[in-house]
Amino acid sequence: MPITLEIVRSIPRSADAVGVPVASEGPVPRSLGLNRAALAANGFEGKPGQTLVLASATGPAQIAVGIGKMGELTANGLRNAAASLARAAGKRAHLATSLADVGGVDAKSAAQAVVEGVALANYRYVGLKNDKTGSPVQTLSLVIGQARAAGAQQGAERGEATATAASLARDLANTPPAYLTARIMADKAVEIAAASGLGVEVFNKDQLKAMGCGGIVGVNAGSTEPPRMVRLTYTPKNPTGHIVLVGKGVTYDSGGISLKPSDASHASMKMDMSGAAAVLATLGALKVLKCKTAVTGYLMCTDNMPSGSALKLGDVLTMRNGKTVEIQNTDAEGRLILADGLSLGAESKPDAMVDICTLTGAVVSALGDRMAGVLGTNQSWIDQVTASGKRTDEPTWQLPLAKEYRKLLDSHVADMRNIGGPAAGTITASLFLSEFTNDVPWAHIDMAGTMKMDSDDGWLAKGATGYGTRLLIDLVTSFTPLT
Ligand code: BES
Ligand code: MN
Ligand code: ZN
Repeated sequence: MPITLEIVRSIPRSADAVGVPVASEGPVPRSLGLNRAALAANGFEGKPGQTLVLASATGPAQIAVGIGKMGELTANGLRNAAASLARAAGKRAHLATSLADVGGVDAKSAAQAVVEGVALANYRYVGLKNDKTGSPVQTLSLVIGQARAAGAQQGAERGEATATAASLARDLANTPPAYLTARIMADKAVEIAAASGLGVEVFNKDQLKAMGCGGIVGVNAGSTEPPRMVRLTYTPKNPTGHIVLVGKGVTYDSGGISLKPSDASHASMKMDMSGAAAVLATLGALKVLKCKTAVTGYLMCTDNMPSGSALKLGDVLTMRNGKTVEIQNTDAEGRLILADGLSLGAESKPDAMVDICTLTGAVVSALGDRMAGVLGTNQSWIDQVTASGKRTDEPTWQLPLAKEYRKLLDSHVADMRNIGGPAAGTITASLFLSEFTNDVPWAHIDMAGTMKMDSDDGWLAKGATGYGTRLLIDLVTSFTPLT
């Protein structure tokens, strides 16, 4: 259920919990009714993430929310503080919090961050529960003075759009594979396109074959479910440039005949479409956000299954751009489907491309669950991706697109093979993709590590993270043409 937002001058009577930001140094807001020594005696020091619920028999609960040193407070810190508030509020439905004491953060960024933090911390996947209650929060009142109210209103609306988009991406990734096949994913994309003013085309298996998309057709060979490629277009008047986004939409990755072991990692492979979910959710938010850049999104959707008709090791695929690929491991399927999407994207000669995908276990080993890998062919474009990752707290860490390792992809029978050696797996996967980007400035986000969390952490909630959605929205809405 969406949260109702309001920008108000004072705490409304309907509030049943009031968040009070408290820094780790300096004065304590009087409304709390406790001084610093009393807070400390209750174990609350104002550190980021700390909360102290002061229940009241007569009025709303006052919840002290730690924000650390006031001088060091950022929008990212506020987002997490808001997430802590939402969790501490428990079952209370009507939250209010002041945006007066947010240090140097401007009203717009502060309101956006707080809305995102509350909405994302409270996210629940209820698709298959009989109890659809989900998040307890129904209203969020942001208290701010007249002078900064207009900025806060804009920020709150933006935060609502970005959090809704990220929640959509989480819902898609949390959905079990039988409930989210490539066909269902395409149906959802058509629905979202209609609701958000996008152009949409869906390509079926025969069309993909006719287009020469050997990668996605090949990965689908073992499946009883047909593939779908979806092209979404957002076209504002007089656009500032054109960006292509390509998302990996593997609705279930069993590994194919290079079958994965039945472990926890395999069990999370319903989420192997998280990149496509981020692209879809991003496109769906652009009209509301009045994005000035034209954006085309490709969702490359299929599952990866073993069967009598599946790809075999040694098979050779001819890809959309004519290059041939020898299959040496059917579990390296993401790069095969992305290759066709990147080729098609490059044909339209956009100003820049990004692909986003749960591509390699190697990036999980290298960077863990709190940052994605980014690699690419154009440093200023990679820098824009990195900056968006920082602003949205969906961080990336750049790895080198080291040409030295290209020979690891050499094949005896085809232009290349689909795996490198045992080492530098994220880099060799990227080198493979770079063969399909032509000369379009390109960045590649490997989000295998950040697709899910094992427990709540700040704005992140256990399960699918929706990673990349807010990053991509920030990226395309702040795009500055590359020189
Ligand atoms: N979807 C997986 C990568 C993955 C691993 C995503 C863990 C999320 C969490 C991908 O298709 C894959 O299987 N990659 C292989 C490639 C290898 C065979 C070259 C991998 O990383 O093991
Ligand atoms: Mn795989
Ligand atoms: Zn995969």
